[in-house]
Amino acid sequence: MTPSSEAGEGAEAPVLDPEALVSEAGALVETVTTVGALDEVRTHLLGKRSGLARAHQGLVTLAPEERPEAGRRLNEARRAIEALLADRRRRLERDERARLLRAEQLDLTEVLTPRLRGRLHLVQRTRDELEDVFVGMGFVVAEGPEAETDWYNFEALHMPPAHPARGMWDTLYLDLGDPETVLLRTHTSPVQIHMMENQGPPIYAVMPGKCYRRDTPDARHIPTFHQIEGLVVDRGISFADLAGTIESFTTAYFGPDIHSRLRPSYFPFTEPSAEFEITCTICKGEGCRTCSQTGWIELGGCGMVDPAVFAAVGLDSEVWTGFAFGFGIDRCTQMRHEIPDMRVFYDNDARVLRQI
Ligand code: FA5
Repeated sequence: MTPSSEAGEGAEAPVLDPEALVSEAGALVETVTTVGALDEVRTHLLGKRSGLARAHQGLVTLAPEERPEAGRRLNEARRAIEALLADRRRRLERDERARLLRAEQLDLTEVLTPRLRGRLHLVQRTRDELEDVFVGMGFVVAEGPEAETDWYNFEALHMPPAHPARGMWDTLYLDLGDPETVLLRTHTSPVQIHMMENQGPPIYAVMPGKCYRRDTPDARHIPTFHQIEGLVVDRGISFADLAGTIESFTTAYFGPDIHSRLRPSYFPFTEPSAEFEITCTICKGEGCRTCSQTGWIELGGCGMVDPAVFAAVGLDSEVWTGFAFGFGIDRCTQMRHEIPDMRVFYDNDARVLRQI
């Protein structure tokens, strides 16, 4: 294409080489690496100030008979440049998608260490279950302090100083007040006294908690253990009520296959008193190390509340009668889950704790 003389002397000759425009455009779009930059290049190649636009404006400088052909070639060049841009855009978008997929891909074969979840200790779970059983029988749940005075742990329970039964429960005294007046409770029975003092009859309550004794650890003893105390005080309560309650508890907690028995015993704060035993679940009554070859395991003590205890809290034993019991929660756990040695509960061996 050659500009006509109408362009005039000194006028700038427009570039009318469409093929050159296309090949320059082709080289330029290949240098672009993002879709955003490609939009800018598009304006540069096809916008109002582009070489193509200037070439269009230059058509007027051509002889009239040359213009249609020149116009057709410029339109072709525009289509070719648009095709170059579209092709580059497609490839850039594809690369971008692939990059994103790579960045966001999940390795579904990766094995992650499972998060370790804690759980309640088996003895705590037993305590919860025992509470549920008694709540189902109409009892309320109460708690008392672990540090007690001599009065609550012994004296109000009909164990005056020098009473021989104290020797059995010789314990850890705290350096508080007069010597040997404050101690870590040896049983949950002191909570009976708190209940009778604070609430008064009628009482239908269980009182779980921790107890401390100077016991040497063995298959069924540990120095820090748990008991659940029971206390019923009302009019006309008899030993039959006590026996029936214990029977119902045994069936509810251990199931119908476990037999229980009450063996006459002695506690200063109940009269008459009994020990509550079940068939040893480790040997099914055959005799083993856990039950000292007797076939029976003692779970707790029980009896009718002694009138001396009522007197200590100012209740008239001519009006009120009641029964009490105290079971070892760790012992119940041991028997229910057939664990030969109670010490495993507190050895902190993760291999054991994981299983229970
Ligand atoms: C008492 O502690 C009485 N207070 C129970 C009681 C309550 C009798 C109410 C009458 C009326 P004893 O010392 O026997 O009783 O303990 C009761 C139960 O606690 C035992 O049968 C046993 O299951 C559990 N126990 C006692 N000492 C330990 C120990 N060192 N480790 C684990 N469990 C124990």
